[in-house]
Amino acid sequence: MKKITIAIDGFSSTGKSTLAKQLAKELEYVYVDTGAMYRAVALFAMQNQFIGPDSFDTKGLVDSLPKIQLEFKFNAELGFAEMYLNGENVEKQIRTIEVSNYVSKVAEVSEVRSKLVEQQQAMGKNKAIVMDGRDIGTVVFPNAELKIFMTASAETRAQRRFDELQEKGDNVSYEDVLKNVVERDHIDTHRADSPLVIADDAIEIDNSYLSREEQFSAVLELINDVV
Ligand code: C5P
Repeated sequence: MKKITIAIDGFSSTGKSTLAKQLAKELEYVYVDTGAMYRAVALFAMQNQFIGPDSFDTKGLVDSLPKIQLEFKFNAELGFAEMYLNGENVEKQIRTIEVSNYVSKVAEVSEVRSKLVEQQQAMGKNKAIVMDGRDIGTVVFPNAELKIFMTASAETRAQRRFDELQEKGDNVSYEDVLKNVVERDHIDTHRADSPLVIADDAIEIDNSYLSREEQFSAVLELINDVV
C-alpha cells in the first residue's frame, strides 16, 4: 500500500490527537502532535520568565531558541510518543491549563514557528506520518495526500477538555476551560503568521455528534480512496 502524509488540523480540543493516534496505530504510521512542540516552547518561556500574566519578552525567547531542544520519545507502555524538552520528559507539565493559557501567544512568534515547522517537515520527509496541529495542511505539508479539518461547537470541546483535566486530577472550572478554548481559537485564527484556516483541499469533519468509532471509520474510508 502506498505510504501517504495525513494532515489533521482544526480548532482546540476537537479530538485531533485521539483520531491521529488511532490512525497511526491502524496504519503503522508515525504520529506527531505538533501542539506538544508549541506547548514545550511555552513551558520553556514560562520557566525562564519570558512570559507571565502581564508580560512577554519576545526577544528574550527568540534569542534563546537555539537553547531549546525538542524530542519525541516513544513510550511503548502508553503506545505513543512523549515530549522531551532539553532531555526532560515534560508530557504532564505541558498539558496544564497554565501552559494552555500562554501557548497561543508563543505560537504567534514567527521565529518559533519557523524553527518548529522545519523540524516537523524533517520528521515527515519519508511520509507514513499522521501529523496534527493548526497549519499542517496549509504550511507544513501543503502537498499532503489527505487533509482533514476538524470542528465541533466550543461548548462540546470545552466539556471534553474539562472531563480530561478532571480525570487527571487538575482542579479547574468548566468556565475557565471554555474561556481558554475560545481565546486560543481567536488568537490561532487571527494571527499574522500561519493562521488557522481550512486548506482548499481539506475535508471538514464536524464531530459534535459523532462517536469516536463513527469518525474513525469515516476517515479510514477516506484513506482507502487515496491509497
Ligand atoms: O493542539 P494543541 O491544542 O495542544 O495546541 C496548542 C496550541 O499550539 C494551539 O492553540 C496553537 O496556538 C498552537 N499550535 C500552532 N500550530 C500547530 C499546533 C499548535 O500554532 N501546528
